[in-house]
Amino acid sequence: MIVDRQGRRFRNLRVSLTAACNYACSYCVPDGKRLVAAQDELSADALARGVALLVDAAGIERLRITGGEPLISPRLEPFLKVIGGLGLKDIALTTNGQLLSRKLAMLRAAGIDRLNVSLDTLDPTAFRSIARGGDLASVLRGMEEASAAGMRIKVNMVPMRGHNLDQVVPLLDYCLARGYELRFIELMRMGHLALDSNAFLRQFVSLEQLLALIGDHHHFQQAPAALDATALRYQIPGQGYFGVIANESVPFCRACSRLRLSSTGWLHGCLSSSNRHFIGDLLDKPRHQALPVIQRLLVKALADKQELAFSGGVTVMKVIGG
Ligand code: 5AD
Repeated sequence: MIVDRQGRRFRNLRVSLTAACNYACSYCVPDGKRLVAAQDELSADALARGVALLVDAAGIERLRITGGEPLISPRLEPFLKVIGGLGLKDIALTTNGQLLSRKLAMLRAAGIDRLNVSLDTLDPTAFRSIARGGDLASVLRGMEEASAAGMRIKVNMVPMRGHNLDQVVPLLDYCLARGYELRFIELMRMGHLALDSNAFLRQFVSLEQLLALIGDHHHFQQAPAALDATALRYQIPGQGYFGVIANESVPFCRACSRLRLSSTGWLHGCLSSSNRHFIGDLLDKPRHQALPVIQRLLVKALADKQELAFSGGVTVMKVIGG
């Protein structure tokens, strides 16, 4: 097993199925930059072989499929078919929910039973100005249908001053009423926000500010969470839970067990590091040739992790999926 001086190892793998997305969220894509088609992406089979090799080489236990937007990729279904047989403890998916209704039966058939849906507001006008694509009603309908089909739903919201602070409590109430767990993600200095600290600071909402806002409407108490969990968890007695991923306020680098694989075959050991390691050329090699090389790259990727705190990085989120 590959372990670093802080006792960290890779347990959780996040695979970006495609960098393409049907949204252009303001925190992910700079203003006016429309999306370019994703290029040089690996086939479903090659990506799945990459996952299998990483399971063997790093002891990966859990997999999250991200993007871009994974539901727009025709490679999702064949990919799920292969990785379903790898014996992973858990396979989850992060989506913007736009195509959820249409893809629900396929996801259920592939054994997916929980989803993280990104949703930053319940206001259609604000939705258009943040997501810059898609349609709010489709997301809400998709979540309802998924929930009715027995899927567990977490909603990701990035609170931003000037965009959706007025939505913190309404979205929380909406989720509590439906049994979805809302997770607030502190804005991260990624991509263009890593280069423009004024834009970042103008919009950033801290854990403390967020809890104060919620505290005006709800009583809550901190609840226990897993040791390598990235979210702080809070219980509103009698109503449910919410979480906060407080990258800036309560950094969790010391317990980080994440590894990321991009759709083009690059390993990223840390969101804050611009280092990346190519495994795309190893995926059609026999296992005994590929494994030792991947193991050496994993040692490098683990060394890319920050000691203490997230410092931001220029990597665009849609390439590695958060
Ligand atoms: N800061 C915080 N969260 C972000 N996400 C994407 N970019 C950022 C950013 N700069 C979130 C998305 C999605 C999750 C995978 O990452 O909203 O829910």
